[in-house]
Amino acid sequence: MTQIYAAPMEGLTTGVFRKAHRALFSGIDRYYLPFIAVHESHTFKQKEIRDMSPSVNAGMVSVPQILTKNPADFVWGAREIAALGYDEINLNLGCPSPTVTTKKKGAGLLGDSEALQGLLDGIFEGLADLPDLRITVKTRLGIAEPQEMEALTELYNRYPVAELIIHARTLQDLYRGEPRMEAFRKAYEDCRMPVSFNGNIFSREDFDGFISRYPETAGVMLGRGLIRNPALAREIRGGEKLTREELRAFHDAIYQGYLEEMSGITPVLGRMKELWSYWGTLFPENERLVRNVRKAKNRKDYETAAGILFNMGSFRNEDRPREIIMH
Ligand SMILES: Cc1cc2nc3c(=O)[nH]c(=O)nc-3n(C[C@H](O)[C@H](O)[C@H](O)COP(=O)(O)O)c2cc1C
Repeated sequence: MTQIYAAPMEGLTTGVFRKAHRALFSGIDRYYLPFIAVHESHTFKQKEIRDMSPSVNAGMVSVPQILTKNPADFVWGAREIAALGYDEINLNLGCPSPTVTTKKKGAGLLGDSEALQGLLDGIFEGLADLPDLRITVKTRLGIAEPQEMEALTELYNRYPVAELIIHARTLQDLYRGEPRMEAFRKAYEDCRMPVSFNGNIFSREDFDGFISRYPETAGVMLGRGLIRNPALAREIRGGEKLTREELRAFHDAIYQGYLEEMSGITPVLGRMKELWSYWGTLFPENERLVRNVRKAKNRKDYETAAGILFNMGSFRNEDRPREIIMH
């Protein structure tokens, strides 16, 4: 059966989010962690160590992700992460942020086949003594044209990539528009390793429609759809739809988690407001109340505004957001 993955989303699917999600919702087979940028200094940040710790990840399958263009840095990071007990490490070849791509990292590497080949050569040579460690790749289709994926598929096929997760967009697409299914289809047919799909799965119907066309897909990764509707994986598996009370309990668990973890209310509200840019679409008739939540500058105003929205707002768990949220 096709597995369901929670996408890595920097600033959104943090340890606090994942722990709350695991406690309240079923259906996710693997949680991918937001990327860790590994540098020459060969150190992890405190926050990255915490995000990978057993206390955060107990009871769920978690997969750390590394962002780098340097094989030695990947190999160092992968060994450290494997020593923590992880058996899969994901390589980020999808990040479209200019601060990343101008350094030829993330999706920026997809346009330089020599550098990409050097990275993959170094990774698989450097980790050859750890054959049980699954190295998976999350890739976009290319820089500008989805057909670039043909050459990329040919390249990936030369390596023991354990699974290829394809975000079916190009770098230039960013997060806009519909996934490029023609190019995905070709990769799905031509890849030697198990292929997983990512892009615009917002409802059970989206998932079922996708699987009927691509039944051999190893996994479907849910990004914005899961942030907006944390019950999405459960719904896909035939479970109940999200309720207002569940969303509130999820909200409260995350809010509490950030209050405990972060110093000062400002960063906590920053994180919560990012979530509200998705949850707001569940209250389509209450734009003003949602705006009040997103404008709140202190703890009291935030809690009051969120309380009013949860108590008085008209919660609509319809399948597709009125407009797809873009970042
Ligand atoms: C705010 C934000 C942060 C993201 N952070 C990461 C990340 O750390 N690593 C990664 O591979 N993808 C990251 N992504 C991309 C998502 O994992 C996913 O590929 C993308 O949202 C497309 O899936 P969707 O259409 O289901 O949302 C991020 C996307 C967004 C919007």
